[in-house]
Amino acid sequence: MIRRNTKFNWKRKHLLSLRDLSRQELEHIFETAKGFEQFSTRSIKKAPTLRGKVMVNMFFEDSTRTRISFSLAASRLSADIVDFTKKSSSVSKGETLIDTARNLEAMGIDIVVIRHNAGGAAKLLSRSINACVVNAGDGFNEHPTQGLLDVYTIVKEKGSLEGLKIGIVGDIAHSRVARSNIWAMTKLGAEVTLVGPPTLMPAKVDQLPVNVSYNLDDVIENLDVINMLRIQFERMGGNPFPSVREYSHFFGLTVERAQRAKPGMLVMHPGPINRGLEMESEVADGEKSVILKQVANGLAIRMAVLFLVNQAAMQEGKK
Ligand code: CP
Repeated sequence: MIRRNTKFNWKRKHLLSLRDLSRQELEHIFETAKGFEQFSTRSIKKAPTLRGKVMVNMFFEDSTRTRISFSLAASRLSADIVDFTKKSSSVSKGETLIDTARNLEAMGIDIVVIRHNAGGAAKLLSRSINACVVNAGDGFNEHPTQGLLDVYTIVKEKGSLEGLKIGIVGDIAHSRVARSNIWAMTKLGAEVTLVGPPTLMPAKVDQLPVNVSYNLDDVIENLDVINMLRIQFERMGGNPFPSVREYSHFFGLTVERAQRAKPGMLVMHPGPINRGLEMESEVADGEKSVILKQVANGLAIRMAVLFLVNQAAMQEGKK
């Protein structure tokens, strides 16, 4: 259940990490997202909430879901949208991240949504400009709106995360999604188990509030939710496992493994999927899969985040 708290006063003009957020803040984002969900079903999908505001999508890494979802969310709230991509910008001439952002700010932007390959890039930006900053994925660190939409999807499907057993499987070491998932899921009462080969576990895993398993078959039958992560070959120096076939054999979500899971187990993936590696197509498209629901829920979550950070910035301006 999403607990209603209409008196809650959201004060953050940046969304940088889920590690920073309280349970009450997480629930307030979900409550706000729920209010925005009806927009997807209306014939006129517009609210004037961000009219006159400018959001820049500042993406230093490729994206399909996150970038388009933020653009659609901003568009539904009537903001103007500017798309920045590294390849066609003056970053190629050596301009720094902060100089780039300050120049964009001089043109009157209000919200920066940033994806960057360096962990901490969003936080650095939030200390360097006055605009609101939303982290759309920073290196291996966090991907907060993905974490939010994942948890929101589970709340909608299961009612609550309290007492749920959730497996996060695969390339944990390179996954910002895993980190955002861990902070949000455990704060909301789930028991999280990381599953994968030792070479894909993060350093200092013992300091995270999770269980660790190196054998998917040991845990699959107990899970209420399984989140299959993409193997991020582009972030690796060498091979973390001998062959793709071997990885798939031990850690892939095959039809046979999915059949051994609880009937109501949710199958999740942040996308993009390496079909046949992390999971077989029949499972990705099967009845347990909520992968496209995650994408749909991301729109309401991003509308809520843009609405809340702007609200906090306006309150700050009144002081
Ligand atoms: N899940 C996710 O971040 O997907 P994109 O890289 O396509 O944005």
